[in-house]
Amino acid sequence: MRTYLVTGGAGFIGSNYIHYMFKKYDNEIRIINVDVLTYAGNLENLKDVENRDNYTFIRADICDRDAINKIFEENDIDRVVHFAAESHVDRSIVNPEVFVQTNVLGTATMLNAAKKAWELPDGTFKEGKKFLHVSTDEVYGSLDDDPNAFFYETTPYSPHSPYSASKASSDMLVKAYMDTYKFPANITNCSNNYGPYQFPEKLIPLIINNALASKDLPVYGDGKNVRDWLYVEDHAKAIDMVQEKGRLFETYNVGGHNEKQNIEIVKTIIDILREELDDSDPRKEHLTYDLIKYVADRKGHDRRYAIAPDKIKAEIGWEPETMFKEGIRKTIHWYFENEAWMKNVTSGDYEKYYEKMYSNK
Ligand SMILES: NC(=O)c1ccc[n+]([C@@H]2O[C@H](COP(=O)([O-])OP(=O)(O)OC[C@H]3O[C@@H](n4cnc5c(N)ncnc54)[C@H](O)[C@@H]3O)[C@@H](O)[C@H]2O)c1
Repeated sequence: MRTYLVTGGAGFIGSNYIHYMFKKYDNEIRIINVDVLTYAGNLENLKDVENRDNYTFIRADICDRDAINKIFEENDIDRVVHFAAESHVDRSIVNPEVFVQTNVLGTATMLNAAKKAWELPDGTFKEGKKFLHVSTDEVYGSLDDDPNAFFYETTPYSPHSPYSASKASSDMLVKAYMDTYKFPANITNCSNNYGPYQFPEKLIPLIINNALASKDLPVYGDGKNVRDWLYVEDHAKAIDMVQEKGRLFETYNVGGHNEKQNIEIVKTIIDILREELDDSDPRKEHLTYDLIKYVADRKGHDRRYAIAPDKIKAEIGWEPETMFKEGIRKTIHWYFENEAWMKNVTSGDYEKYYEKMYSNK
């Protein structure tokens, strides 16, 4: 049975990936989820898998060399899928240091631990071992409004925010390990994800949550910054396909072919919520475009990101499957059906879940 070490599995994309993998492979794989549970880690995201015999949660910091080495010593890890990171650009502007700590030094710790566990005396690596570093399109910088300009794997790195600079540094470290040691790894650079279990500091769940509470819907600057949105399950599938079918040492861009201005996203959410709410629902009356409030722009706000996912399509056959219209509806339904999840997150109660479920373990 193949054993996966997933870092940051209690976060948004990590938890969706774990669900995807158990849905696809069921009992053919074992997953060890290593997460320190920052504010962004929520074990409630994994309620439905936590009692599986082939799932283990370990609370550990990826910067803690001893703890990470111990996990490799005690388990024969075949695959590492490295999500753990500080992930919110706004937070990186306020407090860059923790981004360097987790994203750069934490990645170095993960690489060293995997190298130590997998390297043979002759400097080659044990057969079949693979490390996948999950990264972002933000490392490439910003595009202007030319609709024919895209990020390719060959686009030079030009990060602007402390977040993207820390992710770019971590990518460079992975590249250095591949070049120097022939360390068996891949990097994926993905565009903005949306879907279930996303922490409501990010645009889409923030807007859904505020709209349902009749609160202002803050939009940065002129609202015309463009992001390329991908449904999170499509990202999970891409990661799995890259690890199984991709060429080692390669980078693959993952994107949705789905560029949208922020303001379009906000208006689409309002439109769908209005369709979904009953006329008798008191929330409907307040749910109009009047809730939109333009606020001072984010410092150094990148204008446009757009990925060309041509390489992953040509080499691996991956393409985004969930069209935005369908994905955004699915997402809104999920947040409707999981109001308790959202309440626990916004009230902070989710942080008690670990104590409740894991205090005796
Ligand atoms: N969200 C996006 O749109 C997007 C797009 C492309 C790439 N990415 C990348 O995907 C990865 C996951 O993003 P996300 O949106 O799920 O992030 P997230 O913030 O929702 O989750 C991050 C997880 O990492 C954990 N973590 C943080 N610091 C840790 C540490 N020191 N040790 C162990 N665990 C730690 C957190 O507890 C949390 O569970 C990140 O590497 C991010 O850069 C995200």
